[in-house]
Amino acid sequence: MCGIVGYAGENNAAPILLDGLEKLEYRGYDSAGLATIGKSGIDIIKAKGRLAALKERTENGKLMQGTVGLGHTRWATHGKPSDENSHPHTGGNGRVAIVHNGIIENYNEIKEMLKNRGRSFYSETDTEVAAQLIDYCYKGNILEAVAEAVREMRGSYALGVMCSEEPETLIAVKCRAPLIVAYTENGNMFASDVTAVLKYTKEITYLDDDEIAVITKTDAEFYTPFLDKLSKKRELTKLDVSAADKGGFEHYMLKEITEQPEAVRRTTEKFIKNSRVDLSEVLPEAFARKIGKIFIVACGSSYHVGMAAKYNIEKLARTPTEVVYASEFRYSDPLVDKASLVILISQSGETADTLEALREAKRLGAETLSVVNVKGSSIAKASEHVIYTKAGPEIAVATTKAYSAQLAVMALIALYLADLRGTVSSEEYSVIVSELEALPEKLERIIKNRADIQYPAYRYFNNEKLFFIGRNTDYALSLEGSLKLKEISYMHSEAYAAGELKHGTISLIEEGTPVIAVVTCRRLAEKTVSNASEVRARGARVMTVTAESMRSLVEHESDDVITVPDTHEALMPSVSVVPLQLFAYYIALYRGCDIDKPRNLAKSVTVE
Ligand code: G6P
Repeated sequence: MCGIVGYAGENNAAPILLDGLEKLEYRGYDSAGLATIGKSGIDIIKAKGRLAALKERTENGKLMQGTVGLGHTRWATHGKPSDENSHPHTGGNGRVAIVHNGIIENYNEIKEMLKNRGRSFYSETDTEVAAQLIDYCYKGNILEAVAEAVREMRGSYALGVMCSEEPETLIAVKCRAPLIVAYTENGNMFASDVTAVLKYTKEITYLDDDEIAVITKTDAEFYTPFLDKLSKKRELTKLDVSAADKGGFEHYMLKEITEQPEAVRRTTEKFIKNSRVDLSEVLPEAFARKIGKIFIVACGSSYHVGMAAKYNIEKLARTPTEVVYASEFRYSDPLVDKASLVILISQSGETADTLEALREAKRLGAETLSVVNVKGSSIAKASEHVIYTKAGPEIAVATTKAYSAQLAVMALIALYLADLRGTVSSEEYSVIVSELEALPEKLERIIKNRADIQYPAYRYFNNEKLFFIGRNTDYALSLEGSLKLKEISYMHSEAYAAGELKHGTISLIEEGTPVIAVVTCRRLAEKTVSNASEVRARGARVMTVTAESMRSLVEHESDDVITVPDTHEALMPSVSVVPLQLFAYYIALYRGCDIDKPRNLAKSVTVE
C-alpha cells in the first residue's frame, strides 16, 4: 500500500526512481509522482492511474533534471485518486516536498493549528499537512525541521522529504510503516522494500520505528526524533535481483504459482531433522506442552490459512483453537491469558490490523508467535517468536506462494504440538512428516500439468457468479479459492460450508451456475458429493477438485473433475489449493483482467 523510493547520487534520479516504483507496483496504487531537485528548485510531475501514465508524462524520466529525488505510488486514503491528491506534496510554496505512506492520525488538529497561523491548503490529504508542518518547523536545517514535525505527528507512516534549500540531502522517517536504506555504487537510496533497490545493490540498513535517516550521495546517518545519533548496521540481503522480475512468465502470479514447490521446500527443510519436526528454537517445548488455547489472528488469505490450520491443530494436537480476523480481535475483548499462544500470520509483516492485534495480545500477557514472509518487518520485530516463510518476494497482489509456505508452517506447528502433547500416534506422525517432505514434488506435478485446469477454466470464464463448497479443511480451501477468483477476475463468487448451502444460498443456483466442490477429506466425501447432487438437480454445473484415489467417489456427480496427488488429509489443502489458484488465474486471463494489479487492492495494507 503506497510505495516510496528516494535517490541521492551521481546519476539522473528520475529514471532510477521510476524503475524502483515499478518494483513496488505490487503494493497496490492508483496514482504516482516524482520530485527532483533541479537548478530552479523542486520539480514535481504526477499522474493519476498506472505508472505508465507518469512515464509518458516524464518521457521515462528524461524531462526531469537532478540527481536527488523522491518517487511515490499512492493508494488513496484521504482524498480520491487524482493528479492533485497524488504525491509528492509540498509545503511553503514548494520549498519542501514529501512522499508519504500510511496515515497521520492527528492531521486535522495540525491542519487547524497551521491554518490559524496563516497556512492554506490545496489538497485533501494528510500528506500535505505533514509537508506544511515540516516547512513550518524549518529554520535552516531540514533534519531539525523533520524531527520537530515527527514529534508532533501521530499515526503510522513512512516519509521521504526534500528541501530546495538543502538540495544534496534527503530525509527518510520510519514510524510503523516499512522503510529501508540502501547503498549503491553511485549514491544512496531508501525505499519501502528491498525489491526496489535490488537492481543496484544488496547492501541494506533496516530502519526501526521512530528512526530518521539523513541521506546524501556519499553518506547515510541515523537519528532519533530527539536528534540523538544512532549507529545502524549494514546487512547484505540474500535476495537476488531475479526475485523481482517475471523470469519469462506473462504474469508474476503465474511465476509465483510455479515457485511454490521451492517456497515450501525452503520453508520446511530447516525444521525437519531426521524425520522429526523440531520447532523448539521458535516455540520452547515447556511452553508448547502447557498451551491452554491457541488464537490464530490474520487477514485475507492469511486468515484462510488459519482456518485450515485450526482443523489440523484441533484434530492432531487436540488444542482448542480460535481463528479471528485481526480487525476484530482487538475489539472483541478476547479471552486471552498467559496460557494462550497467539499466532499472527502475515505475508507482508506490515498489515496494520495484524500488527495492532499482536500488540493487544502482548498486552494481555499471551505468548506470541508470528509467521511472516518479510524479514525485518514490523510484525516479525514485535513478536516474541518468529517463523519465517521462505517464499521470497511476492509481487503479484494475489498471494500464492506465501500462502502455501504459511500452510506448510502451520502443518509443522500442528505436528510439533501433537508430538509434544502425545496426541498423535507414531505411525501417523511419520506418515505426515514424510508427506511433508514429499509435498514439493507433488506440487511440481500439478504445476507441470496446469493445462488440465486451463481447459475447464475456459468453459467457466463467461459466467457472472460461481460457488465453492467444501467441508472442514475443504471449506477453508473453498474460502481461499473463492477469494482468489474474486480478487483477480472480478467474477462474483461465494464459498459455503457444503452443508450450509441449502439454508438459503441454494436459491441462487440456476441453470448453468458453476459450483466448484472441493472434496479431499475422504471421510466427508459422501456428504459433499450429496450436496453436489443437490445443486446439480437444480441445474448447476459442478466441477470437483479431489484426490487421484477418490475420483471414482465423485465422478457420478461432477461435470468436470480435477485431480491432485494423494497425501495425508492434513496436507490436502496444500496440494488442492494449486488448481484453485490456477483456475482463478486462467479465468482472469480469459476475462482480460490486470492479473498482477487488480483494481482497488493493495498487497500490504498498512491502514486499519
Ligand atoms: C491484503 C492482500 C491479501 C492478503 C491480506 C493480508 O488484503 O491483498 O492478499 O492476504 O492483505 O496480508 P498479510 O500481508 O498480512 O498476509
